[in-house]
Amino acid sequence: VNAGATNSHQIAAAAACLACDEPLEGNYFVSTYPPFSAWTRAALPEVHRLLQAPAAARQDEPLGLYVHVPFCVKRCDYCYYLSYADKSAADIDAYVDAVLAEAQLYRRTAALAERTPTFVYFGGGTPSLLSAREIERLLRGLQHVFPWARVQEATFECAPQSVTQAKLRRLRELGVTRISLGVQELDDDVLRLNGRVHLVRHVERAWEAIRRVGFDVVNLDLIVGLVGQTEATFSRSLDRVIGMQPECVTIYQLEIPLNTPLYRALHAGALPQAPANWDIKRARLGRGLAALEQAGYTVRSAYAAVRDPRRHRFVYQDEQYRGADLLGIGVASFSYLAGLHFQNVTALDAYLTLVRQGQFPLGRAYALTDDERLTREFVLQLKLGVADAAYFHASFGTDISQRFAEPLRELTQRGWLTVDAGGVRTTREGLLRVDRLLSAFYPAHHRGIRYT
Ligand SMILES: C[S@@+](CC[C@H](N)C(=O)[O-])C[C@H]1O[C@@H](n2cnc3c(N)ncnc32)[C@H](O)[C@@H]1O
Ligand code: SF4
Repeated sequence: VNAGATNSHQIAAAAACLACDEPLEGNYFVSTYPPFSAWTRAALPEVHRLLQAPAAARQDEPLGLYVHVPFCVKRCDYCYYLSYADKSAADIDAYVDAVLAEAQLYRRTAALAERTPTFVYFGGGTPSLLSAREIERLLRGLQHVFPWARVQEATFECAPQSVTQAKLRRLRELGVTRISLGVQELDDDVLRLNGRVHLVRHVERAWEAIRRVGFDVVNLDLIVGLVGQTEATFSRSLDRVIGMQPECVTIYQLEIPLNTPLYRALHAGALPQAPANWDIKRARLGRGLAALEQAGYTVRSAYAAVRDPRRHRFVYQDEQYRGADLLGIGVASFSYLAGLHFQNVTALDAYLTLVRQGQFPLGRAYALTDDERLTREFVLQLKLGVADAAYFHASFGTDISQRFAEPLRELTQRGWLTVDAGGVRTTREGLLRVDRLLSAFYPAHHRGIRYT
């Protein structure tokens, strides 16, 4: 590709984005409130206090377990998740030991001794990179520490190349109900341009194996805005995905996080094509959601559509967005327990060392006030397209239309939200940019700060 043409495209794209005031780079997706950059080491003693407090009254409450598996065959150019591509089988083995030891540490606390999980999520990195033997050791070990009798949903993230029938069978036998497969795009050129290791044929092979083994819900991840993607490649990919009839399809808008190869290539003028700006990504996502609706799917959040909303729930997301407790295990994982956020250290060596010393591998924390808990649930529920007035009245004794009157006025005027006695809803245009709107509901000191 002609480098001169690349640069002029990039300049045009940057100018377009200045006009819409949205930087091409940085974070977009909001996974919680307050932003991680507000969490501190100074708040860690509160975590230790909480863990020593008996939680008998919370025994029947929902509890999630998140386990981070930070290994990939190779880092994709755009990815911001913590993951290592240079680890050996022995390193992975040692990591599984550490995860099980960390789970035991929590089990021995007064706060978690009697609690059992209602949903589980193995995220990455690439959990499917573990061998069938390691999968069995990890899941059995975890179930020994935190029995799964009450688990309604257990998700396991997979990448196409590492999926095998033997691993899938093991997952099914061990209680995994939901598979999430990173497809991203069904075009070999686009996959290669973004540093993916898999090709379309690997997706086809993984898909056959997944269907043969059979899971309650299979989700396929796609991304709009990938380098080299065009309207034509995306709509062909989506048509093929719809033809496969997965229970759930998730479409992310490409973020260009700092410190990724994609960010560096963008700034070096080394991309073969200017990256899509946010207007393009939103329009593509909007067309994608419309195509899914046309095919009988129901839009359940800003990014996902399901074939049958009554049967194909996403417990992990729904429960978290309603304030459920979540215990995050593994390097960099974050937790939310009784209104307290805490996150593990984000370097693998430090994580392993602390766990081996019998210490909680914690890095930072944040204790939410009641009002911040309300804000957290309100903004997270907006990502599902609706914040129900009755729910907030019952949970917090608050009238959300009053509490957030000012930002609601502004965002309804812009056509992104509607408000009535039932609550707050996003319009479709609002839903396509919802993560961008959320900081309008934050107090001033949390607005405009770094996300991580
Ligand atoms: C941890 S990965 C999923 C499993 C597996 N590692 C894979 O990539 O196939 C979670 C998902 O995050 C999405 N993702 C990662 N980086 C992203 C980015 N910069 N912008 C948008 N989505 C991203 C991808 O769709 C990916 O499937
Ligand atoms: S997108 Fe998935 S496979 Fe690629 S680096 Fe991120 S976690 Fe690894």
